[in-house]
Amino acid sequence: MCGIVGYIGVKSNPLEVVIEGLKQLEYRGYDSAGVAFIEDSKFRIYKEVGKISNLEAKVKNIDFSKVSNLAIGHTRWATHGGVTVPNAHPHISNSGEIILVHNGVIENYSVLKEMLVRKGYYFYSQTDTEVIVNLIEEHIKEDNTFEDAVILSVKELSGTFGLVISYLKEPDKLIAVRKGSPIVVGVGDNESIIASDINAIVKHTKNVIYLEDGEIAIVRKDDIKTKDFAGEDVKKDVFVVDWEIESLNKGNYPHYMLKEIFEQPVAIENCIRGRLLEDEGAVKLGGIAKLENYIHKIRKFVFIGCGTAYYAGMVGKYVMENIGGILTEVDYASEFRYRNPMVSPRDVVVAVSQSGETMDTLEALREAKRKGSITMGIVNVVGSTIAREAGMGIYIHAGPEIGVASTKAFTNMMVAIIMLSVFVGRRKRLGIFEGREIVSNLKKIPELVEYTLNTTNKITNDIAKEFYKSRNFLYLGRHYNYPIALEGALKLKEISYIHAEGYPAAEMKHGPIALIDENMPVVVIATKGSIYSKIISNIQEVKARGGKVISIVNEDDKEISKISDYVVTVPNTIEVLSPIINVIPLQLLAYHIATIKGLDVDKPRNLAKSVTVE
Ligand code: F6R
Repeated sequence: MCGIVGYIGVKSNPLEVVIEGLKQLEYRGYDSAGVAFIEDSKFRIYKEVGKISNLEAKVKNIDFSKVSNLAIGHTRWATHGGVTVPNAHPHISNSGEIILVHNGVIENYSVLKEMLVRKGYYFYSQTDTEVIVNLIEEHIKEDNTFEDAVILSVKELSGTFGLVISYLKEPDKLIAVRKGSPIVVGVGDNESIIASDINAIVKHTKNVIYLEDGEIAIVRKDDIKTKDFAGEDVKKDVFVVDWEIESLNKGNYPHYMLKEIFEQPVAIENCIRGRLLEDEGAVKLGGIAKLENYIHKIRKFVFIGCGTAYYAGMVGKYVMENIGGILTEVDYASEFRYRNPMVSPRDVVVAVSQSGETMDTLEALREAKRKGSITMGIVNVVGSTIAREAGMGIYIHAGPEIGVASTKAFTNMMVAIIMLSVFVGRRKRLGIFEGREIVSNLKKIPELVEYTLNTTNKITNDIAKEFYKSRNFLYLGRHYNYPIALEGALKLKEISYIHAEGYPAAEMKHGPIALIDENMPVVVIATKGSIYSKIISNIQEVKARGGKVISIVNEDDKEISKISDYVVTVPNTIEVLSPIINVIPLQLLAYHIATIKGLDVDKPRNLAKSVTVE
């Protein structure tokens, strides 16, 4: 969850690269930050609690003429030890000769710490990380080379770690290590940048090497060597990243989240480009072509993911069963991996993830592989661990998502899942005419999303002004739009800190109806579909108990508009695509409520974008 950056090269101010990189990674964790570099043959360390900007202010007057050609940095999301300056990274060894930054959790740190304390080491922080740096020092004292000392040390660690390490006596290199926490090395022109994800790198180079678990990289400005933990050389491919630097800036938007909400038409366009075969009512998905070989043997699909990605998987259950014509389950990745799931070589397990690095999703994918299932990924970040390990997959092409609350990745996940369902359906029970209907309407979705953004932005802002002081919200939806109710509630919770629950509308009368009174805003997704008339009854039940109803309805709606307190209209589309449109006003409503409350929507408290710990 923490972000790490290391730079070695010829730039006159390596700290600038590191601070800039940390800012791009700040969404990974933002409770404290620190940097280190070499000056006058000593490591200089600066750390601050709070945002990177606090740290930046502290280092801005440093005279860089005497500073080394390398720097490392870290943005923290606390796991072991409170949010304090001593607990912030980098951590330095007792001799002051080794320094490192760490992303991950060392499970056996207390045993190692005791051992090191017995040998006379002193610990200045409560972190698990300080153990690693002193362990390396201990192995160097035993006459091992820097590289061997790192390998010996990491072999003694259990848990997860992405590390960038510097040794004062060998300032021509940094060593990066990966086990369980992502590490990417950017291959620049006379410079190398190491980071926990590519956002910190793409400004400098688009050529990157992804380390796999159990690998280390010895990184010089003009040379990168990779080895496994046995010390054997490993040959790595260089990937070319296609993200543009502009997409990493907020542009004219006040927040990344708003920018990303408004990027959805373009993002969806990028997701469907070249993949829709209108005449055949089918789709072309090169990344899953080999699924064709198993299609008639498949027993079921299982979508796994966390948070918003899990809700996309839930939409997948409805869509795949309806148009794919195949039994489909959906599971929280964190539950799937520990509950001995019933999957077999005839089942397809689909890992859904924006980052492609979420630890629970990755481990669930690995569990599915162990059980011999067919696996695939629906992933945004190209070359990420899930994308690499899934075996096949569909990239959602949403572009970088920086706002912690996922928006454009969610809509693109749904689009990818619908295309996957058409792919399967057209080889099973979906006829050409139904296929054409879905494909031709999918083609129109970017335009409809654009329209929805423009027509619902103001009204959701007005509604937000009415309800931002509410302490609770209920979101109701049915069928394809039940997961959208859950997603709407999640968006509100995470950025506005208002308690919200999503419910299948008909379930309300089995319990939550007891909560309804005049202080309870109830957002109802009530667009036209097979169970429209049932939703009307559900709204009446809320109204009868004094609840305030905010309905999402189609523009030609007559009935629900009459019985609702507030109405947000959205354009019509076919029912299976309606979740893509209906989530837009819910994203905007959450955004407006949070901004009216003056909250930092891009970095909500306690959250991190990429959850790489269990
Ligand atoms: C919510 C949100 C999280 C993520 C979840 C999975 O807005 O962003 O719930 O959806 O942490 O992340 P990925 O998709 O990267 O696996």
